[in-house]
Amino acid sequence: MNKKYRVASLFSGCGGLDLGFIQNGFEVVWANDFFKEAVETYKNNIGDHIVYGDITQIPSSEIPNNIDILLGGFPCQGFSVANTKRSMKDERNFLYKELMRLVKDKQPKYFIGENVKGLLSMQKGQVIEMIVNDFRSLGYDVEFRLLKASDYGVPQNRERVIIIGNRLGLENPFPKITHGLGNDLFNHTTKPYVTVKDVVGHLAEIRTRDVPFQLDGKTIYNHVARTNVSDKFWGRKHQVNQHEICDYLKEWRNKSDLSTKKIDEHFGYAHTAGHWFRKDNNSGSIPNPKDWWELKKILGFDDTYDLAVTELEIKEIKFEQSLRINNWESPSDTITATGPEIHPNRLRRMSVRECAIIQTFPDDFIFYGSLGNMYKQIGNAVPVLLANKIAEGIKKSLDNHEQINDRAKSRTYHYREVREKVFG
Ligand SMILES: C[S@@+](CC[C@H](N)C(=O)[O-])C[C@H]1O[C@@H](n2cnc3c(N)ncnc32)[C@H](O)[C@@H]1O
Repeated sequence: MNKKYRVASLFSGCGGLDLGFIQNGFEVVWANDFFKEAVETYKNNIGDHIVYGDITQIPSSEIPNNIDILLGGFPCQGFSVANTKRSMKDERNFLYKELMRLVKDKQPKYFIGENVKGLLSMQKGQVIEMIVNDFRSLGYDVEFRLLKASDYGVPQNRERVIIIGNRLGLENPFPKITHGLGNDLFNHTTKPYVTVKDVVGHLAEIRTRDVPFQLDGKTIYNHVARTNVSDKFWGRKHQVNQHEICDYLKEWRNKSDLSTKKIDEHFGYAHTAGHWFRKDNNSGSIPNPKDWWELKKILGFDDTYDLAVTELEIKEIKFEQSLRINNWESPSDTITATGPEIHPNRLRRMSVRECAIIQTFPDDFIFYGSLGNMYKQIGNAVPVLLANKIAEGIKKSLDNHEQINDRAKSRTYHYREVREKVFG
């Protein structure tokens, strides 16, 4: 169906969520944010239907009617697990009420809310319950799920709570998982996770710079990065002897029936495991803590190196050992609005473009504002591909609904015609 459903978008930021809907043929007729640079980025890439201003100061009458879908990635600082002071008293926690106000006033067919994982544990689950009940009280069927972006082909293990509600008795269509470790014996339907190297490998050797440039016939924008990163990160507490650990792992692998290929398959890596059992040419590497525990399960090794490999402490950033982008061969850690993501093998933070690619923004989507504010817009966004998959489901559901309605209308019309012919 070619019907263009009308979308209004609150807390739109630079437009990650909106773009996923636009890619599915939706028309965003109104958007809003009070983050100046995000609005500038949105205007230049998506359209000037975005209004700059504080939503709490914008009356519903200034927002168009006949809205089919209302989007609202309501702000999350107050809810975030990263924020130790999160509390019900934080005013930002109540911005979902703005989404509620517009659901009530505009009666969209669907609304979509988005938030951080911390929302689920806040006040032992009472906050999400309160939010869901509040929307239900407006006559909507509401469901929420925690979605992991990498399960949908995004090269990033970002987890976000997605809330979907509709007032038409329709399904709330959460997208189906399409990606996984790629070694699940019982499920051949998922594709392997997309890795950091898959998507930004081509930029690793390319000098960062302020201006666009050509690479393999494509223009690269915003490949600019902060190089004087000073921050803290979780790093290994103990000095480790790489050779010793590689030898040890090799011994345990020999005792098992597992080839490195099988181990790679288990982890869904192309060829990472090989390095864990090799000390030649200094090319050996130690599994990151998460992989260590998994490897221990399958090789059954003892506790000798558990602490050395897995005990972490807060450290000043030393580029080469940041764990924030921990592996070329897996999806990235979450790209955040503030915390620097360090390039796996360069002495710099991931560039704005690399972060945007990991957030699945198109290559020609250009970011505006100061360096810090560009990182912030990207870190705030819903990955475009995840938004796209959500939008796809909503579109299908609305199209079905329209078709059923059209058929019912034409049946009524036909019935009336027949009745008039027979009875006059
Ligand atoms: C999590 S981000 C949303 C990101 C967006 N959905 C995307 O996919 O790109 C939340 C946004 O809410 C905006 N915001 C917070 N409080 C606001 C308010 N009172 N009025 C308007 N925008 C606000 C912030 O500036 C931020 O851009």
